[in-house]
Amino acid sequence: MSKLFAKKQLSVLLAEASESEKGLKRTLGAGSLIALGIGAIIGAGLFVRTAAAAGQHAGPAVTISFIIAAIGCALAGLCYAEFASMIPIAGSAYTYSYATLGEFVAWIIGWDLVLEYALGAATVAIGWSQYLNKLLTSVFHVTIPYQWSHSPFEVSDLGVHGIMNIPSIFILLLLTLLLIRGTEGSAIVNNVIVIVKVTIVLLFIFLGWHFINPANHTPFTISANAGTVTMHNGQVVNYADFWNHGWAGVLRGAGVVFFAFIGFDAVSTAAQETKNPKRNMPIGILVSLAICTVLYILFSYVLTGIAPFQDFLKAGGEASVAYAIDTYMPGYGWLSTFITVAILAGFSSVILVMLLGQTRVFYSMSNDGLVPTVFAKLHPKYRTPYRSQWMFFGFVSLFAAFIPDNVVGEMTSIGTLFAFVLVCIGVIVMRKSNPELPRAFKTPWVPFVPILGALVCLAMILSLGWENWSRLFVWLGIGFIVYFRFSVKHSKARKLLDK
Ligand code: ALA
Repeated sequence: MSKLFAKKQLSVLLAEASESEKGLKRTLGAGSLIALGIGAIIGAGLFVRTAAAAGQHAGPAVTISFIIAAIGCALAGLCYAEFASMIPIAGSAYTYSYATLGEFVAWIIGWDLVLEYALGAATVAIGWSQYLNKLLTSVFHVTIPYQWSHSPFEVSDLGVHGIMNIPSIFILLLLTLLLIRGTEGSAIVNNVIVIVKVTIVLLFIFLGWHFINPANHTPFTISANAGTVTMHNGQVVNYADFWNHGWAGVLRGAGVVFFAFIGFDAVSTAAQETKNPKRNMPIGILVSLAICTVLYILFSYVLTGIAPFQDFLKAGGEASVAYAIDTYMPGYGWLSTFITVAILAGFSSVILVMLLGQTRVFYSMSNDGLVPTVFAKLHPKYRTPYRSQWMFFGFVSLFAAFIPDNVVGEMTSIGTLFAFVLVCIGVIVMRKSNPELPRAFKTPWVPFVPILGALVCLAMILSLGWENWSRLFVWLGIGFIVYFRFSVKHSKARKLLDK
């Protein structure tokens, strides 16, 4: 039993980090980390999931959903920052929990992070495919046939069934190749994309502001009497349902748009590639989170002011921002095209960071003996975990090609929220078990901040409903099988205990 809670010694972790010259290269500073954070944060959450949350659950009050999600993230972010500054090594919440809560919890988190990074990448790749189609249609007057750009679970207005989403596989392949070439090159590309991404968000806010129709903001939360809407895939949404109106809808909306904040913790997975991580990690995490929160609130206020929320369940359900501009902002066709191009670039940077984070978590797990050694195999020239990168390309592509975005999106949200809860608890445990360890950044008001962080994240988990809870349980169940059949036999921490 005690082996289940075998801990990885912090001294071992830190020694491994200082050996990193032999493995991953240290090239990133605070600026690059903030860029990496924003690169990971602004993406399909804002440009796709906002409309879904507004259309089905929160209406214009999706702005409040963003505030709730941001509060949960900020509180969890403060906990993340303490860990990241204390344990500057690749691996994210997984590594932190290995040193604090022991191997089993670390395993759960590492396994759970697959939902965050791999499924997150799949969700954004699906959004990429929607905007690509929008661009091809409006500029080049060609459209990728519905069946080859949608999952088998989706049906068009004309009754065409999806088969597989090919554009999403294409973008995943392109970025996998880029990542195999190395993180340094990828960070430069990322910086450029971040500037473009922030620019379009600001442009949309400023130009769209004049097109806000106050009637669209009234009432601010969805009324229980708002009736029903038949979505383009035939599904009927009834606003009288508990999670589809009022404050419950706002909370459920928070669970959905929480997706838009995912990624600031991906910054912590790059700790092993960061210069002076004790100082730069907390800055990277918190500053990128703060910038995005302000942008999201303003953006969603404008989006729901321009278009009635019901639109986002119908024609506006795909490439929603371009739809809103084309339909309600006459004369701004150029903006729609520009934003679509920028979104394609912006989504690419999100997928990049997600795929990077995913392989780095498995890199750490593999070094610890919890997953096969192939995940830590570095490319002889580029020093990147190229085999792992290829395997995750295959895994992520399966989801992107065959599952609808709302399913993978909500699985990503619930998986990440669950990891956040464990990280919040981890800070409290670590303060008790290792009070003497130096912390370059300390979470303020412990245990108040971690407890509140865990509670806000739990509330969002609850709002996501039983379908998402069961998906989380199934995924964790598969994880337990892998853990007890493979990891317990190969764990290095356990072998140390046997000596
Ligand atoms: N936060 C990222 C996005 O919105 C995952 O796409």
